[in-house]
Amino acid sequence: MSRNPKKLCIAMVGLPARGKSTIACRLRESLEAEGFTVAIFNNGELRRSMLGQNTAHADFFNPENAEGVRIREGIALQNLQFARQFLTTGGDIAILDATNITRARRRSIIEGMEATPVLFIECVNEDRELLATSIAHKTKISEFGHMTFSEAFSNFEQRIRLYTSQYEPLGFEDNHVILNSLQNRVVREKVTDDIPHYARIRDILVSDMIPNLYLIRHGETYYNQERRIGGNSELTEKGLRQADQLAEHFRDCKIPFIFTSTKQRSIQMAERIARRQPDCVHVPLKELDEINAGICESMTYDEIREQHPEIHVARSMDKYRYIYPQGEGYITLQPRIQLGIKKVLYLSSNAEHIIVVGHQAVNRMILSYFLFRRQEDVPYITIPQDKYFHIVSTRTKKLFELKRF
Ligand code: F6P
Repeated sequence: MSRNPKKLCIAMVGLPARGKSTIACRLRESLEAEGFTVAIFNNGELRRSMLGQNTAHADFFNPENAEGVRIREGIALQNLQFARQFLTTGGDIAILDATNITRARRRSIIEGMEATPVLFIECVNEDRELLATSIAHKTKISEFGHMTFSEAFSNFEQRIRLYTSQYEPLGFEDNHVILNSLQNRVVREKVTDDIPHYARIRDILVSDMIPNLYLIRHGETYYNQERRIGGNSELTEKGLRQADQLAEHFRDCKIPFIFTSTKQRSIQMAERIARRQPDCVHVPLKELDEINAGICESMTYDEIREQHPEIHVARSMDKYRYIYPQGEGYITLQPRIQLGIKKVLYLSSNAEHIIVVGHQAVNRMILSYFLFRRQEDVPYITIPQDKYFHIVSTRTKKLFELKRF
């Protein structure tokens, strides 16, 4: 059969809560920005619009539930037909957003698409903690509205187990990419046919997409007043005022996610901002915790100079590479912060505006992730408490602005 040279069907593959919809939306937004006509056909959305809350229970996804299987296969077929129709009526790229974890289902997509090539993109990610956070978010959608949080959570976990029992890895399919959806890294790819726009698509898959990230440092703490480092100090009156000013500043901007460290000072900031934001989710991540100063935690810089002059000297000679005894250094902070940024981007699922409330060393590392700085200069980047950084980083736009609030 001769191939249709311009049209493409992308079929997502992966267990629930592996980031498929986020990747599908990122592909659509980026490809549309390049002038393509793109549509997503999401089986979950179609199921919810047809059946409402009736399908939230895990039993519905049991492969032994014949009625459930019949309904789910019917929905998949329906979306396949919608996608074909879209491609024959002017659409360029149709994205089938569903688990598509069995070979039989994938074969039916290839056959159903006839002359249009199909590219399978599988999202994998086995980070347990991230999965738990993603499931917790999913339980908030209206489908689970009639269940308690723990009922919804365990039903979703059970749903994942049921899908896992039927999972058949990609391999036989001619055109497929396996993507680590947390790291934006291609784990394996096999592209046999001439897949239209493949280079562009691959590029989108591995790029970070940050529409608007507001990088904030927590306000003044009692430790800041005494020039003590680390610890878990609370915000002072002035710090709380700074939090309220920020909350006021962002009042008219819808912020669906605020990410913080697990330290009180950044959590207090987030809580104050979130109070003025309807439907704002606060996610504390330990990856965003401030540098651990080991045996120097809770000391002032003067105390370190007096009690551990060797630490003071060694650190001033090479601040980036110096590692505090029993603690961290900028150099060891780097992979942790990188993972934190990836988690932020993964969990915020293409949200238009997100806030990260970090710390001095943490924000230096985050800034250097987006903006090149020589390593030796990173530990000296100024991170004020009365200004924040507005960062935009997409494939077509980079913006970096220091703003006062
Ligand atoms: O002083 C505040 C603080 O966040 C400390 O907790 C941390 O140890 C320090 O800044 C990091 O900055 P520097 O690397 O310049 O000491």
